[in-house]
Amino acid sequence: MNKPSILVARGVFPETIAKLRQHFEVEDNPADAIWPKSELITRLQGKAGVFTTGSERIDAELLKACPGLRICANMAVGFNNFDVPAMTAAGVLATNTPDVLTETTADFGFALLMATARRMAESEHFLRAGQWTKWAYDMFAGSEVHGSTLGILGMGRIGQGIARRGAHGFGMKVVYHNRSRLSPELEAQCKAAYVSKEELLRTADHLVLVLPYSAQSHHAIGAAEIAQMKPTATLINVARGGIVDDAALAQALRERRIAAAGLDVFEGEPAVHPDLLTVPNVVLTPHIASATVATRRAMADLAADNLIAYLTTGKPVTPVNPEVLEPA
Ligand code: 8YV
Repeated sequence: MNKPSILVARGVFPETIAKLRQHFEVEDNPADAIWPKSELITRLQGKAGVFTTGSERIDAELLKACPGLRICANMAVGFNNFDVPAMTAAGVLATNTPDVLTETTADFGFALLMATARRMAESEHFLRAGQWTKWAYDMFAGSEVHGSTLGILGMGRIGQGIARRGAHGFGMKVVYHNRSRLSPELEAQCKAAYVSKEELLRTADHLVLVLPYSAQSHHAIGAAEIAQMKPTATLINVARGGIVDDAALAQALRERRIAAAGLDVFEGEPAVHPDLLTVPNVVLTPHIASATVATRRAMADLAADNLIAYLTTGKPVTPVNPEVLEPA
């Protein structure tokens, strides 16, 4: 029997490609080019599945042009690059990579919080520029992490991981806001108290954003929200670009309306708002919160396993829209 054909839309581990080749005819992208939509559509002709990352947009226009497509397996837990209702309407399965990146991403969120609070990037630039000529009592004096109030907006798996690190590792008081409140057991594990968004903004010393991007969360943090934060607070975004109004944040940082920010994700990335590049009190990283070798391997493996499981048995591992599956 002929093997189904699939497309791997971005560069990925050779081991992942080798594993996929055991089950499929694979067209891959060893040059790791980002194909424009027209080219993606052309390459998807005759393909039953596609291995995607956040850079491929799967929408109604693409689906209409690729009628043989049955599954899009995203190598990411977030799937805002997928129009899920359009996929469901077209009978195309979406899968993502939850769980395997939770602790790694929580580690990074906490690292970014600490780097921001303790002014690590700013002070490193100062040192590299040869400006360190003497000790001074207030040199790069930042804000306290241990014992402070950690605010979390979006209390899913990664948010809970960050809460546990703060509460158990650093004696922080944890407050959170989420669409739905956690069970009492999970709240106890995270030592976290549910508060309104207003109270979260008003009380957090360090506010970490870990909510998924959607039309509802677009600019969840803009000028009006930043105005409610403490002038000493820090803001950390490891969720998605577009959740923060980057222009408003850059202005607030310049005017010191909050102390500092740590950003791993940006509106329109890989472009970064030029004003963020010129303010000193921000730590900027290029969307690497899940980037450890082991975690990226686990994410690639899970995306590949979804393609293999769905196209060979009809039973994916981590479906996003299970309603497209045949009833058992
Ligand atoms: C990915 C992420 O690296 O999983 C996610 O949602 O944001 C990152 O872990 C990125 O989306 C590339 O696919």
